[in-house]
Amino acid sequence: MKTRLSLLLGLGMLLVSFASCVKDQVDIQSYTEEEYAVLSQYLDLPREVVNYANPELPPHLRSSGFGGTTITNHGATLGRVLFYDTHLSADNSRSCASCHHQDKAMADARALSEGVNGNKTDRNALAIGNVRFYYFDRGFFWDERASSVEEQVRQTVSNHKEMGVDFDLLPQKLEGLPYYEILFKKAFGDSQITSDRIASALAQYVRSIISGHSKLDYAIEHDLGNNFWRIEQARLPSLTTLEQRGKDLYFAHCSSCHGNIIFLGLATANNGLDIEYADKGVGALTGNPSQFGLFKVPFLRNIALTAPYMHDGRFQTLEEVVEHYNSGIQPHPNLSSFLKNADGTPKRLNLSDEDKQALVAFLETLTDDSFLTDPAYADPFK
Ligand code: HEC
Ligand code: HEC
Repeated sequence: MKTRLSLLLGLGMLLVSFASCVKDQVDIQSYTEEEYAVLSQYLDLPREVVNYANPELPPHLRSSGFGGTTITNHGATLGRVLFYDTHLSADNSRSCASCHHQDKAMADARALSEGVNGNKTDRNALAIGNVRFYYFDRGFFWDERASSVEEQVRQTVSNHKEMGVDFDLLPQKLEGLPYYEILFKKAFGDSQITSDRIASALAQYVRSIISGHSKLDYAIEHDLGNNFWRIEQARLPSLTTLEQRGKDLYFAHCSSCHGNIIFLGLATANNGLDIEYADKGVGALTGNPSQFGLFKVPFLRNIALTAPYMHDGRFQTLEEVVEHYNSGIQPHPNLSSFLKNADGTPKRLNLSDEDKQALVAFLETLTDDSFLTDPAYADPFK
């Protein structure tokens, strides 16, 4: 009897502390009236902070290496504001979002993007997304020269063609902006602005950018459920016959490099664009000829929205991309073995017109329209 009573008591105390914990959490999550009044002069942020840390996702995404890095809701919120703030560039003309547009699935419609002082970037802007699914951060940029998102942010802000601000001087530049006083305090406990905090917040936001509600996600969830790992062989009744045919072609010819489920590439490769590369990719960085023409395998979610394609933006449409893999692979010495025949010559897929349409139709099932208008990733400035 006595033990049962103390058990009950203990349980009761647990419940009480749980309840106060929940209450604390709510308090931490929101802003005071004064804070919100100041923020609202500049920003259109929701009263309750967005749940970036733990978003709702279908099971096949939850189970696929999700959640490796720490994201707090206030950290990512600060990151979102920094992402859209033109104060991060030398002449206050460019923000991250000037080259990574939400309605283009975080890519840019130009082959080369425009940075500060009318400069053009050297390469096509990569789409941002699903970075959080890398178990550990791996290479960022087309040549994977940045080893973490934080490092990528530092390089981008300091790059004289992109934003042109010495990253270590950026805190001074943001000092005195009233909204940062509040947002840094919320994210880090006090309002001090440091370059490490800026990098951390931007990285938290970048890692929170997830697209998981495409037609294919629906099909996987609806048709396969917890057997999502069977996607390669499975029939997906939620897809049209043409899309299903495209899926089979994708798994026969493309998934070895571009992946499944997440559609994140896992290495750099030479996909035979040229015999002689003007931009040598990883090889330009290392000087190693066996790495000439190696580029990051880009991830394919929302690919129908991120034209033009390849590191130099040479292809305007997915049809052109598919034709490249069908008939255009060049016999570069570093061409990936996935794209070579046993005798070393470049593969020719000899796809019929309907096969090509099917592949494009399948790639279009990776489009997630809700991502393009999701308020969590929208420009917060008034
Ligand atoms: C002037 C245009 C421009 C601006 C401004 C810009 N980016 Fe980029 N971004 C690019 C280009 C171009 C690339 C690819 C560059 C390369 O690979 O050499 C890229 C690549 C990236 C990548 C790598 C993606 C991957 O999968 O490897 C991330 C992440 C990223 N940008 C985030 C940001 C953030 C955060 C900011 C703001 C601090 C920013 N970008 C500002 C043009 C821009
Ligand atoms: C050997 C690995 C490999 C295989 C197999 C492969 N790709 Fe690629 N893919 C790459 C690499 C590497 C790039 C980037 C090349 C560059 O820009 O220099 C790329 C780029 C692309 C792009 C452009 C992405 C962007 O954001 O610009 C698309 C689309 C694409 N591939 C689709 C496919 C399709 C469809 C197939 C199958 C028919 C396929 N890939 C097979 C490695 C591969």
